[in-house]
Amino acid sequence: MNVTEPLTKRPAWNALETHYHEVKGLHLRALFADDPKRGERLSAEAAGIYLDYSKNRVTGETIKLLLQLAEQSGLRGRIDAMFRGDRINISENRAVLHVALRAPEGASIVVDGENVVPQVHAVLAKMSDFADRVRIGTWKGHTGKRIRNVINIGIGGSDLGPVMAYEALKHYSERALTFRFVSNIDGTDFAEATHDLDPAETLFIVSSKTFTTLETMTNAHTARAWLLAGLGGDAKSVAKHFVAVSTNAAEVTKFGIDTANMFGFWDWVGGRYSMDSAIGLSTMLAIGPESFRAMLAGFHEVDEHFRTAPFERNLPVLMGLLAVWYGNFFGAQTVAVLPYEQYLKRFPAYLQQLTMESNGKHVTLDGDTVTYDTGAIYWGEPGTNGQHSFYQLIHQGTRLIPCDFIAFARTLNPLGEHHDMLLANVFAQGEALAFGKTLEQVRADGSPDWLVPHRTFEGNRPSNTILLPQLTPAALGKLVALYEHSVFTQGAIWHIDSFDQWGVELGKVLATRIIPELSGKQEPQAKHDSSTNALIRRYRKLKQVSPSDGNS
Ligand code: F6P
Repeated sequence: MNVTEPLTKRPAWNALETHYHEVKGLHLRALFADDPKRGERLSAEAAGIYLDYSKNRVTGETIKLLLQLAEQSGLRGRIDAMFRGDRINISENRAVLHVALRAPEGASIVVDGENVVPQVHAVLAKMSDFADRVRIGTWKGHTGKRIRNVINIGIGGSDLGPVMAYEALKHYSERALTFRFVSNIDGTDFAEATHDLDPAETLFIVSSKTFTTLETMTNAHTARAWLLAGLGGDAKSVAKHFVAVSTNAAEVTKFGIDTANMFGFWDWVGGRYSMDSAIGLSTMLAIGPESFRAMLAGFHEVDEHFRTAPFERNLPVLMGLLAVWYGNFFGAQTVAVLPYEQYLKRFPAYLQQLTMESNGKHVTLDGDTVTYDTGAIYWGEPGTNGQHSFYQLIHQGTRLIPCDFIAFARTLNPLGEHHDMLLANVFAQGEALAFGKTLEQVRADGSPDWLVPHRTFEGNRPSNTILLPQLTPAALGKLVALYEHSVFTQGAIWHIDSFDQWGVELGKVLATRIIPELSGKQEPQAKHDSSTNALIRRYRKLKQVSPSDGNS
């Protein structure tokens, strides 16, 4: 099979188009009624993750055709190429090896003739040593006080992974340390993160792959000024209160951080795939080196599953194919990710970068404009909060929104009946979405005729349920790897580069051009379009106004 054949010309794609018209009218009620074992049959389990995908609008034939599509798209070869260290990020000419970050000691993954696994473990050892010293208090601040506050400064992948992991693993964290995360260039973010902290007890981790990102460098400079102001201006204090995580030693040195206090990673780690690299230093400080390694082991278990399991039992492959099925055949625009676990409250935000920066692409690997939709919009909130907000639209609105429900069998905070109630809700939501409530059922409940349509649920709304035993560091690693590889699968089918992010560049360049036009003393020349020019003029005028004049 020629895998460079355009997606829409692949035989399985054409078969799926025909098949879609045959099955789109089928209701999950009928599919379940016709196959009493469907709920168990359409499920898969690996690495302690149970995936129930039976409440999807698929038949055995759909799955067969989707698996054929994976084969005809060269997914197997793409997986092998990634794990081999090929430069599959073609537009940046880079290997894509986040899987090497969690490879066990002794493994070998060669990039440009060098086994990178020993380098990974050397950085992990350096991180562990540092984390232990901060956690037990032998790493002291400039005045001799121990560190009590850790602030990660970073944005995008240098923030979302660390915040998400800190929140997710808070149960395992060292509560004597306070963790904050500053990402936004909005000064409020920094001000609120530091207003109640003592600089003498505060450690900043400046996390930036490039060490040139405007937001991060601006916040890092503000942090340095804040520290120096609090510690009497002694520049030597920086060495005890700033460490860097980066691939760019030259810029780290330029900023004034000794490279002895730098934790490195490599250009083959994409920002959104970096939470398990040194970018996870704040995570390691919070949960300790041992738990961090347990998280890496969880990632690795799913990596191995993805690499070796047959596609029909391969969890990330199945999830990725289902996403393609809804996005390309049903025209679904979004996927809702709904963790029934309070600790995963930042997981949807984390997934937004992972999925949308990876697969929000409009050209193929060959540079041709795609003729089909690519990455869906991912969004979500923890259950049960979302149920009292946007679920109305998922249940009764006019749009099809496939949902991923995520739940854990055992809670970390057993409190009365809370957990049974939480899990009852997640199971109920999947059931309600799939089966709905018919006109007849609503009538039988005694609803007056005029109210019946309002109270009817058509059902047939798809969902996956992902169930794990308990939220542990390893479980978090597994969950993240599951989505990373689902994203990979989708990108392979669409034949796109899931590892670049050129789409973020234009806005950055234009902002850099506009900054002096806002801050300069002279009225800038009107160089933009009439809308942007007017906004700049209006902003310059408004910012002169004193607070007492404003907003009245
Ligand atoms: O905005 C795009 C991006 O390059 C992300 O991909 C990345 O995670 C983020 O910026 C931060 O980049 P850096 O770690 O280099 O500061």
